[in-house]
Amino acid sequence: MRKETADWYDTPLYYDIVFDTDTGQEAKFLEAVMAEYSTGKKSDALRVLEPACGSGRLVAEMARRGHEVSGFDLNENMLDYAQTRLMKRKLAATLWFDRMEEFKVPARRKFDLAHCLVSTFKYVLDEAGAVSHLRRVAGSLRTGGIYVLGIHLSDYKNGRAEHERWVAQRDGISVVCNTHTWPPDRRARTEAMRTRLRITRGGKTWTQETRWRFRTYNVAEARALLRAVPEFKLVACHDFRCEMSEMRKLDDNYADVVLVLRRI
Ligand SMILES: C[S@@+](CC[C@H](N)C(=O)[O-])C[C@H]1O[C@@H](n2cnc3c(N)ncnc32)[C@H](O)[C@@H]1O
Repeated sequence: MRKETADWYDTPLYYDIVFDTDTGQEAKFLEAVMAEYSTGKKSDALRVLEPACGSGRLVAEMARRGHEVSGFDLNENMLDYAQTRLMKRKLAATLWFDRMEEFKVPARRKFDLAHCLVSTFKYVLDEAGAVSHLRRVAGSLRTGGIYVLGIHLSDYKNGRAEHERWVAQRDGISVVCNTHTWPPDRRARTEAMRTRLRITRGGKTWTQETRWRFRTYNVAEARALLRAVPEFKLVACHDFRCEMSEMRKLDDNYADVVLVLRRI
């Protein structure tokens, strides 16, 4: 079997096959979060910003639901894939190349909602970049607007290797995704990650491996980061299941948290 080392974001189709399964649930959750927690002007059509929008699964779904969507990413293949998907579905959105740490919004547009789920924010590897990202998001939201931010928290004391596995199919292509997370390094504030995709397509099977590092946060570090950005107030906490009825506390009992931050 062929084995490749690659950045899995360079092959958006396989990423998308695995992660698109939760898109509908996440989009519904984002709308419900806005209805529940945003203050100020409310309208059915939201102006939405997605930092690191990737393959555009949520860009397209939010656009399909009637929202005015903008997004950016630093991977050109992901952006091309997202744009092609929009064209095929006759949907519109504004997409551009940018980085979470230093992005600029075209025409200084103001948004009602920004979101960054599935721990993507942890790609920003230092505190200055993380603070800069949050300030830029705050600056691009209207007062009362909401940033929905998903973070997988670390437990430095009992940190163990973690393993997650997803299996998905589309159009005769099958993808098995195994993600391995090594125990967090508290001093470096990073954790080593490896994703192995096993792809079966047209009678051939091969694997594709990507390695990268994420920045780590425990509850205290997440709270310290939020204190550095007083433009945001933490108004609620949910988890990666994205269920409105499942409220969480930002404490050590939960690893996968979705923070609801209101622009004040
Ligand atoms: C897990 S995917 C998430 C994509 C999308 N938000 C979703 O929910 O499917 C992570 C994305 O973050 C992008 N990315 C990683 N670091 C970034 C950075 N510093 N600035 C902008 N995008 C980044 C990658 O190119 C990739 O498309």
